Amino acid sequence: MGKRAILLGCFEKNEDKEKYLLTENATKFDETVDGKLSDAINVIGPLKKNKCRVFYGLSPTHPVVAVVGLGPNNAGYNDSEEIDEDRENIRSAISVGTRTLRDLGSIDQIDVDDCGDGVAAAEGSHLILYNYDELKGESLKKSNVNLNHLNVSKDPEAELKWNYGLTLAKGQNITRRLMETPANLMTPTRFGNIAVEELSKLGVKVHIRDRAWAESQKMGSFLSVANGSDQPPIFLEMHYNNAPNTKPIVFVGKGITFDSGGISLKPSLNMDKMRADMGGAANVFGTIYTLASLKASVNIIGLTPLTENMPSGKATKPGDVVFAMNGKSIQIDNTDAEGRLVLADALCYAHNFEPQLILDIATLTGAMKVALGAAMVGVFSTSTKHYNLLQKCGVQTGDRVWRMPILSHFTKQITDSATADLNNIGGAGQGGACVAAAFLKEFVTNPNWMHLDIAGVMDNKDDVSYLGKGMSGRPMRTLVYFAKAFFNNELN
Ligand code: BES
Ligand code: ZN
Ligand code: ZN
Repeated sequence: MGKRAILLGCFEKNEDKEKYLLTENATKFDETVDGKLSDAINVIGPLKKNKCRVFYGLSPTHPVVAVVGLGPNNAGYNDSEEIDEDRENIRSAISVGTRTLRDLGSIDQIDVDDCGDGVAAAEGSHLILYNYDELKGESLKKSNVNLNHLNVSKDPEAELKWNYGLTLAKGQNITRRLMETPANLMTPTRFGNIAVEELSKLGVKVHIRDRAWAESQKMGSFLSVANGSDQPPIFLEMHYNNAPNTKPIVFVGKGITFDSGGISLKPSLNMDKMRADMGGAANVFGTIYTLASLKASVNIIGLTPLTENMPSGKATKPGDVVFAMNGKSIQIDNTDAEGRLVLADALCYAHNFEPQLILDIATLTGAMKVALGAAMVGVFSTSTKHYNLLQKCGVQTGDRVWRMPILSHFTKQITDSATADLNNIGGAGQGGACVAAAFLKEFVTNPNWMHLDIAGVMDNKDDVSYLGKGMSGRPMRTLVYFAKAFFNNELN
């Protein structure tokens, strides 16, 4: 039998850094132990932000008590960081406390203080506990810890917030798992089967389209990427409509289950990471999974072209010309610029649903990673008000976006081809993320289009403290906020 721990928060007192302010839950706990908690903190002095201290023997119900420093009380909105610091501080401090208690090894229950924001506390604690160890033997797996919401005043509102945060974290963890899973175990077929298994029971209609269907749709660009692979391609279509009499948002996600580069083969160093080149598709899946779990009143269609990008005797060769669904011819100068080729057809197809907005998301360019690192997702938008709403959502989730340009300057580069309407890499070798966006724009006629390049945020080293190492599942929570806000008429 493991032990039960309690995790409590403690703010800095704004006027006096030598003093501290216990959260409401911590104050109530302190009363039940006759002030022994504050006595203990007084001995060691106030806790600095993101520091955790563990006390033993203060309480008969909780033999282990952890306290974390939350930073200043009412930190508020930080303009230059574009973040809600109250929430972000709770996410990171609670994650530090949760990890500390888990690493003790003997704890199997943690009662987590919501610190006044159950969404953030549930996110921080559940995101940090995620760990991809399902392929390891039992002895190598981290111990299982249950997280309970500490809500001393039994406030029903606080309970709803905790459950919301829990659902968001669960959705991001599913996205991470899809991305992390080795490519031999996460083929297009497997991804499609998981969608059927997991989404059907939430009321999402899932259609698995095969190669013959894609041929009938004249998706020559998508299929040219699938040519080199022995794994059959899948075009996955997911419909979740809980907002009758509305037009949908279509989410399009790049689903390259492994990107070897094709004939334009990538170097071997870090090639394994290209198992997560379906991060766009995983984000679309996770977003729809989360919205359906929340029974959110939204109307969403998800499209994910899924295939490997592999070299073989059947693979597309540099210089080959293919035709996309809209009839445009594309000269493939580099088979490693395959994401834009699969997205081209999916974007064309998206127009069939007369959407209010088309949003595509893709681990598209190494250049994006160079530009913004893992700090923010680069967003190219033809509509300022849609971008502004997405930006606002990023402030709230802590998973932020930054606007990038869509310019004819870049279009010039990809429309320069001796043999076709377009070439797939452009010439100058600069501004690669913007060139890729300009290429995608050739397949969009809907006035409202956003393209998210998530190559930079695909995996996490120590960029986001509450995520741990590995594939990140970013920015799925921001997309969930966006869809909800959009159908709640918060666009202006
Ligand atoms: N999947 C890669 C982009 C990528 C790189 C994602 C690093 C995540 C981390 C994409 O298909 C690619 O290879 N892009 C090329 C484009 C180039 C050939 C124009 C790139 O960025 O080098
Ligand atoms: Zn590539
Ligand atoms: Zn790729």
